This record gives sequence, C-alpha cells and structure tokens, in this order.
Amino acid sequence: MFKVNNNFLKLPGSYLFSTVARKQREYQAAHPEAEIIKLSIGDVTQPLAPAIVERLHEAVSEMGVAETFKGYAPDLGYEFLRSTIAKHDYKSRGVDIAIDEIFVSDGAKCDSANIQEIFDAESKIAVCDPVYPVYVDSNVMAGRTGEYDEKTGLWSNVIYMPCKEENGFAPELPTVVPDVIYLCFPNNPTGATITKEQLQTWVDYANMNNAVIIYDAAYEAYISEDNVPHTIYECDGAKTCAIELRSFSKNAGFTGTRLGFTVIPKELKDADGVSLNALWARRHGTKYNGAPYIIQAAGEAVYSDEGKKQTAEQIAYYMNNAKYIYDGLKSAGYSVSGGVNAPYIWLKTPDNMSSWDFFDYMLDKANIVGTPGSGFGPSGEGYFRLTAFGTYENTVKAIDRIKSL
Ligand code: MLT
Repeated sequence: MFKVNNNFLKLPGSYLFSTVARKQREYQAAHPEAEIIKLSIGDVTQPLAPAIVERLHEAVSEMGVAETFKGYAPDLGYEFLRSTIAKHDYKSRGVDIAIDEIFVSDGAKCDSANIQEIFDAESKIAVCDPVYPVYVDSNVMAGRTGEYDEKTGLWSNVIYMPCKEENGFAPELPTVVPDVIYLCFPNNPTGATITKEQLQTWVDYANMNNAVIIYDAAYEAYISEDNVPHTIYECDGAKTCAIELRSFSKNAGFTGTRLGFTVIPKELKDADGVSLNALWARRHGTKYNGAPYIIQAAGEAVYSDEGKKQTAEQIAYYMNNAKYIYDGLKSAGYSVSGGVNAPYIWLKTPDNMSSWDFFDYMLDKANIVGTPGSGFGPSGEGYFRLTAFGTYENTVKAIDRIKSL
C-alpha cells in the first residue's frame, strides 16, 4: 500500500490565497448582485506594456520560421536575457554579477518554494512574521519541521521573527541561530522596508554564523526612498551568504506570462566548500527545461528604453493607488503602514477584530476582498492587507465604500 508524504498533512488544508478566492466565490454565489472589488492577491491589472507585447509578437513569429525557431531553452536561461539582467539590475548599481550566477525561471514563487531543496533536511529556517506563506509551506512539505508546539501551533525548526508596529515591522536578529534566513524587502505583506545599514547587519550576522540569506526582492521596483537597498549585493560580504530572488510579475506585469530569476554567487559555499551555485545548476538541469523563448524575449524588452519608461509608468500608477488607499484609510481613522516603497497597505483591524472577522466584515459590508493578516503568520493577527494592484477606479470606489461604513 502506498503512503503519501505525511509532511503535507502538517499544512493547513488550503493555501491562503486559495482560501480567500474560495470565500469570494462563495459570497458571490450567495449574493449575485454584489459588485465585489478584489484587493486581495497581488495580481496586476494593467495590461503588458506595448514594448513588451511588440517583442512577444516578434518572438512568436520567429518560432514559426525554420531559421529562427527555438527548441528547448538553455537550462539556466538565454544569455541575451541574463547579460541584460546583469547589466541593468546589477552593474548599474555597482554590483558585478556574472551571467552564470543568474538562473532564469518561470517566476519567483517557484524559486522561493524550490530553493530549500539544496539545504539539509535538518536545517532550521527563520522567517519574518508575518511572512509570504510559500517560504514556510515549502519547508514543511520537505519535512523541515522539528517538534510541534500544541500551544502555539508552531514548529521548532521554523523560527518566526515578529515584525510589528513596535519594531517598525523589521525583524530582530534571532536568539537561536538559524541555517537559512528568509528576508523579503520591500516586504510582502507589510509593505515595510529596511535600510542598507540594517540589511548589512543581517549580512554580517549570516557570514558570522555560517547562515544563508534567501533575499526576496520581488518588489524592488517599488522602492521610492533613498537608502533602501535595491539588491542585497549592495551590502559588503553578501556574495558569501546571500541568494537573491527576483520577479518580472510585479515590476513588469508578468503574472500571467511568468518569468523570474535567482542569483547565486559562485563565492557562496557551505562549510565544506560545496558551491550552492553548482547545486542549483544541477537541480535546474534535472527538473527544469527553461522559461519559454518568447517569454524570455519579452523579458529582455522590459529593459529597453521604451520598456523601462512604460513599466515605470505602470509602477507609478499602482503607487498612486497605494497613496490613495493609505491616505483614505488614515482619514477614516485606521492605523496604516506600508504603501510607500511597496504596493501593499497593512492596516490594523479596528476594535480588536480578528483578521478573518474583519475579512468577513469587509466582504459583507463593503463587498471588498482583502487578505487577512493572520494568514501570513501569528504576528499578522489583527491586521489586514490591501493591494494597490487594482485599477484606479476600483481603488477609489473601494476606499469610498470603506469611508462610508
Ligand atoms: C501576494 O498577493 O502575496 C502575491 O501576489 C502572491 C504571489 O506573488 O505569489
């Protein structure tokens, strides 16, 4: 008789955003007249920029001509895209990243879930709390759990680092030394950021303790303030302790087309001198046949002069929404944060309502779907996340509704 992977049974029955989507569907079925506004999952609403669409069309045509047809993409991504990334995302910030340190993939979600495969099964992980649930779930699926604490509902090998109002939503160095540290800045879900000096502290800590940092920089394009690092490699010593994840979904609207990349410097080695870059390359070779040529070609167009200009306009559009939400909620008396360097607004639920009670209240009274903070971890309880990725019209409508509650 076969047996399932029991680790999956340690997880909640469904993924946070699937639960939110199901609740929205159920409410809509019961209230067909309700005009629901979805500000829950961080999915873009603006169409792909013209420069990207144009390159997509060209690339599709190339696939229909014998001379330019492409079969399997190279495991690690086409050189044309990897050299463009190295130049625009790193060289332009004074950071040297070689093209064989860049691994192109079909998005940061998969990479952030899969990267744990190259670490020992007994590794302790540390995550910000609240946290993008993929980091924890993927480690639990891999059995990286340890002892279960009935009282807190937490696993001993998953160290939660509370990020609350009191510490500016920035994690403090953990007292138990982890092996793998997940950091995401600008942060999903709180929208908070840390300064370059704060990030340097983490890099020094990781180097001193032989830990590795998985740095999720998916929201880098939304940074508006100085002294917020765009890449962890701006910090001294980061190449010996950090992996960086990047996404084309949020900076260029590729949520439906899928494209991302991971950077693993060759200097990054474990205590026995084993190269993480080589392990990830080995893993890619076995498990992945590369992002499609047409999508990688479209990805390159993001960095063209027109592509840069057009995607910057989209980001400004979403950040205008963020400001509208932030200001509107503040004037309605809510305690709010985020929304300055990130497309997420993090608000405190009123009257000590639980996150899920506030979710139901918003859905029922204002027909707005957001994401309950507790779905992101224990420190998210009593908070609620709204995204700025809606249309401007819906954003205005949603805030008007909240104000008139
Ligand atoms: C979110 O809403 O947290 C993100 O859109 C989820 C994701 O990027 O997978």
